Amino acid sequence: MSSAAVAYARENHPRYLDDLKALLRIPSVSTLPEHKGDCRKAAETLLAELKRIGMENARLIETEGHPLVYADWLRAAGKPTVLVYGHYDVQPPDPLDEWLSPPFEPTERNGNLYARGAVDDKGQVVAQVKALESLLGANRALPINVRVIFEGEEEVGGEGIAEYVASKPANLKADFALVSDTELFAPGLPTLCVGLRGMIYTELEVRGAKTDLHSGIYGGAAPNPFVSLAHIIAKLKDENGHILIPGFYDDVVPPSAEELATWRQLPFDEEEYRKTEVGSKQLVGEPGYSVLERTWARPTLDVHGIPGGFIGAGAKTVIPAKALAKVSMRLVPNQTPAKAFALYKSYVEKIAPAGVDVEVRLIHSGDACLIPVDNPYIRAATRALHEVWGKDTVFIRSGGSIPIVGDFDRHLGLPSIMMGFGLPDDNLHAPNEKFNLKNFALGIESLIRFLEEVGR
Ligand code: BES
Ligand code: MN
Ligand code: MN
Repeated sequence: MSSAAVAYARENHPRYLDDLKALLRIPSVSTLPEHKGDCRKAAETLLAELKRIGMENARLIETEGHPLVYADWLRAAGKPTVLVYGHYDVQPPDPLDEWLSPPFEPTERNGNLYARGAVDDKGQVVAQVKALESLLGANRALPINVRVIFEGEEEVGGEGIAEYVASKPANLKADFALVSDTELFAPGLPTLCVGLRGMIYTELEVRGAKTDLHSGIYGGAAPNPFVSLAHIIAKLKDENGHILIPGFYDDVVPPSAEELATWRQLPFDEEEYRKTEVGSKQLVGEPGYSVLERTWARPTLDVHGIPGGFIGAGAKTVIPAKALAKVSMRLVPNQTPAKAFALYKSYVEKIAPAGVDVEVRLIHSGDACLIPVDNPYIRAATRALHEVWGKDTVFIRSGGSIPIVGDFDRHLGLPSIMMGFGLPDDNLHAPNEKFNLKNFALGIESLIRFLEEVGR
């Protein structure tokens, strides 16, 4: 491969890594109000970068939440247009004491860069920017037309970008989207992700007495919302991981026999996965489905936290007035968030124990997506990946969600190329998140070669 842009990327790599570290030092945690300013700072940093490398019309687009970052370069007459997407917001870093180096002080250790957001998604956003910088730096032009849109609310449901995509589709007119926010199936194995699960994230609140009560004086007469909540949760899903909400599975479309056959060819060792990735004594889930099916193509339900009541040191004999659970469901193709939420809400209201009131609230949601694989952009991607990684590309799905990808299809009519460079053990959303440094470098080269292939 003789690409001036790839040579440019290699020459400038140390500086590229410094630029990534600068972005990682900004704690742009989108869910925490105290980091609102940091989210804006991350957006402004990316904006300045896009301007510096020669992108045009660079600007922040204000939303009700954190700003979008937009830029374009539309001078490749007659060539396709790509919409480059990533997110600059990150998940909260806690639990802090489990980090070996502080989450917002990017640190290199054994070939990896450790920081919150290293791989999800700042490392991959910077890889995209650096691919553009290399192309513009080496050729003073891009091989195709490019629009860039970065959001700062992906980790909280992506409402701002969804609103923008729905209301201003013409501003993002393109032929396909390039999303770098996914992983390789295994180290060194070039991967395109062609499916994501959707989700609904909810809060379930149970209220009993009008105020907290002495559990000796009132225990036996006053309802306990935590116990009621436990009863409700126990009825959401059985011991086999089967969701008990009536009608919940009605719209599920299973993967095709062909797709399942390709999954069986993937290098996957269930016992290794149990030991090194999950680290539990046993895996759980619906019998009759492989781990890949269960995590990629079956809906699931999880409880994330049960705040409230007495959680201090020692003992307090109290019957709390209310209890809360954060509950989410992952959805698969053809299930809709609206219907899933409606079924869940009416079921919970029906099974609510006597003496308590329940309230079910939707926090955010996103659709599942499944990308068709027979298009020229997928073919260009596999050619580019083969050059850089020396191997044929595998097509996978992921159990995670990127809410806007479904909207790119629905509102903009764009197929998404999900070309990401994370690894299965990168600790996304967990302590000691990392990005493999080689994947950062080869990721930039892959993105460069991909855009060049599309422009050929
Ligand atoms: N990048 C992830 C999703 C992902 C992870 C896709 C691994 C493929 C492989 C994304 O940032 C994410 O975490 N999304 C959230 C979305 C939610 C908060 C709406 C998720 O999946 O929990
Ligand atoms: Mn992400
Ligand atoms: Mn994430």
